[in-house]
Amino acid sequence: MLHKDIIYQILEGRGDTDYEKYLDTKNLFLCQKSFYQLSNSDELMFQIIHQVEELWMKHISFTLLNILDYIQLKHSNKIITLFKRIHINQQLMIDNLSILETMSPKDYQVIRKGLGNGSGFESPGFKAILKNVEPLWNNFVEFYLNNETDNIEKIYNSNYCHDYSYLIAESLIEFDELFQNFRYKHLKLVERTIGIDTTSLKGAPVKILNKGVNTHFFPKLWEIRGFMTNQV
Ligand code: HEM
Repeated sequence: MLHKDIIYQILEGRGDTDYEKYLDTKNLFLCQKSFYQLSNSDELMFQIIHQVEELWMKHISFTLLNILDYIQLKHSNKIITLFKRIHINQQLMIDNLSILETMSPKDYQVIRKGLGNGSGFESPGFKAILKNVEPLWNNFVEFYLNNETDNIEKIYNSNYCHDYSYLIAESLIEFDELFQNFRYKHLKLVERTIGIDTTSLKGAPVKILNKGVNTHFFPKLWEIRGFMTNQV
């Protein structure tokens, strides 16, 4: 048997050890195209990065659901710790995209031919995160701003005392900023790979991605800074 085939066989994860069973490596490795069917040697990386990003987004949404519960309990320390976990996770997602920049535009064109009309807009992980944004803000306003008897101006400026409301607002803006950073990094990856003055596989102009890059989840948290600066 060729050395290559021995390695491929190991990476089918057929083993029956507890480790392999718990991680379900057999099915995990079945989630990628077979080594023998890859369109080129960059495609495995292309597929794995997307899958890893989907898993991280699944984990981020799951953690956001936990945070929503903890906001209702006003368990501030837990909320701050879980947000820290999400922020690290978001940074990992951004760093993951850099790996794809080792793929040449020419090699991507080969992979692209086999993608049908798939679109990033169909990403379930991305959709789930976006759906968590409004409940996050509403819960924060209800439980930490007492339905706006307190407000952002007070916690950042006139009553500023670095309290839990302020810290959780900062966790929210960090989440927001890292999400924009992801979108920016993704836009640059797209520009490097297929160019910006072109259309996606669905026929949409690639430039449409700029809209997302400039989207703020929590505009009030951004506006307060300018308000304070303009006041002085
Ligand atoms: C070379 C690699 C990549 C290329 C050429 C590419 C290309 C594109 C293009 C053209 C769009 C515009 C919408 C459409 O597809 O119709 C898009 C959107 C998107 N892509 Fe990618 N992409 C790449 C890698 C990735 C990766 C690794 C992820 C992992 C999460 C990803 C997630 C997304 C998401 C979530 C959107 C929607 C963005 C938004 O609504 O702001 N893409 N991508």
